[in-house]
Amino acid sequence: MSFAYDQQPEAEAPQGETPQGDAVENAGVLPRISIQAFCETQAIADTLQQARTDRRASRTQMSVHMGGVAAAIEFYEEAPTPNIIILESQGSGEQLLAELDRLADVCDADTQVIVIGHNNDVLLYRQLMSRGVSEYLVAPIGPVDAIASVGRLVSSEEGKQLGRTVAFLGAKGGVGASTVAHNFAWSMSQDLLKTVTIADFDLPFGTAGLDFNQDPAQGLADAIFAGDRLDESYIDRLLWKCTDRLSLFAAPSTLERDYDLEYEAVESVIDHVRGLVPFTVLDLPHQWTTWTHKTVTSADDIVLVASPDLGNLRNAKNMVDLLKQHRRNDRPPFLVLNQVGVPKRPEIASQEFAEALEIPCTVEIGFDPQLFGMAANNGQMIAEAQANAKPAEAFRQLARAVAGHNDAPAGANGLIAQLMARFTRGGDS
Ligand SMILES: Nc1ncnc2c1ncn2[C@@H]1O[C@H](COP(=O)(O)OP(=O)(O)OP(=O)(O)O)[C@@H](O)[C@H]1O
Ligand SMILES: [Mg+2]
Repeated sequence: MSFAYDQQPEAEAPQGETPQGDAVENAGVLPRISIQAFCETQAIADTLQQARTDRRASRTQMSVHMGGVAAAIEFYEEAPTPNIIILESQGSGEQLLAELDRLADVCDADTQVIVIGHNNDVLLYRQLMSRGVSEYLVAPIGPVDAIASVGRLVSSEEGKQLGRTVAFLGAKGGVGASTVAHNFAWSMSQDLLKTVTIADFDLPFGTAGLDFNQDPAQGLADAIFAGDRLDESYIDRLLWKCTDRLSLFAAPSTLERDYDLEYEAVESVIDHVRGLVPFTVLDLPHQWTTWTHKTVTSADDIVLVASPDLGNLRNAKNMVDLLKQHRRNDRPPFLVLNQVGVPKRPEIASQEFAEALEIPCTVEIGFDPQLFGMAANNGQMIAEAQANAKPAEAFRQLARAVAGHNDAPAGANGLIAQLMARFTRGGDS
């Protein structure tokens, strides 16, 4: 049982903005469960409606009703109970406990109950827990808090924490999305000591194998086309270890077959990989098909790589606008401006580029064909080719931003550092 009671955010996130707090980073995708909510206030009903349409809840069957516990009792006298019931109650402790006892009579034993109350009361919390209530949340809450709360119940049931995915997408072809993805993954594993895998989804042309000077016999295509044979032990055998903490799910990079991918097959592979590795870098080709679109919009985080010209700006703007629409409770994509400063090329200044997109530019990487060309030809990462190079520091900065590490100077007061982390999380971190 988790002690959600102690972890409430202090204020409700305004609609459409990312809530502060750990929930955004910790809430994962919910499995195919049924959830029914009975609210008393419009504010909580609105919040749960936002949760219902969030990408993390897209696999659930969720409905939101008014009428609180009394309506729930009436409803379940006739209908079967779902996996999880969420109840809002403004009532006093005694009244709520009496109502919950009546609800228990019409509820299946395996249904879990989350109560959203308006009283920050330890005694009530204990009484609810002793009656089998799984979580007690104190209003106000944000949509992602509600999802995280359901997620805690489900994951504690399965005893398993799912890994996070970071999708890398280029605003145009050839802007360096894969190069940035691979160097980011390298920095995550080397500098931040995370266990990371790279899934190279550019099946016919991907360069992850070349970039790491590896030639795995099998990889991502085998998993995607495995059908019923796909399970975690099969995936585990396909993951190619580059270092202790970095593994590779390489593309075949051959043209022996056509690669028309079904999103369901891609989703199933990503789900299994998430069960095995804490961080998965999704290196996506520059294309817009059903599977790329759905893979991007359902990733935990997105890094958009662009070069500073007008075509990139137009495409990036379309992507950012679409993501905003589909991911209202997520932080915006991280913007990387790459290949900046190509000699004689007229360019859009990074500040102007970022302002047009209405998101900050997380890092800017200069055009350095000698360094990047040498690293690519030697099968090395930039930090291996030249540890103190500016781009190597940019990749470290990007890794810290995505991982949620704050950049407070060494020796900064711990409390201030924590506050800074709270402010930057969900914002421009
Ligand atoms: N900052 C840079 N300076 C110079 N060259 C770079 C830079 N970043 C990437 N490159 C080079 O640009 C080329 C294209 O990079 P990459 O394959 O990573 O692009 P991509 O966006 O993944 O392309 P695709 O659309 O094919 O997926 C590579 O040769 C790479 O070494
Ligand atoms: Mg690529």
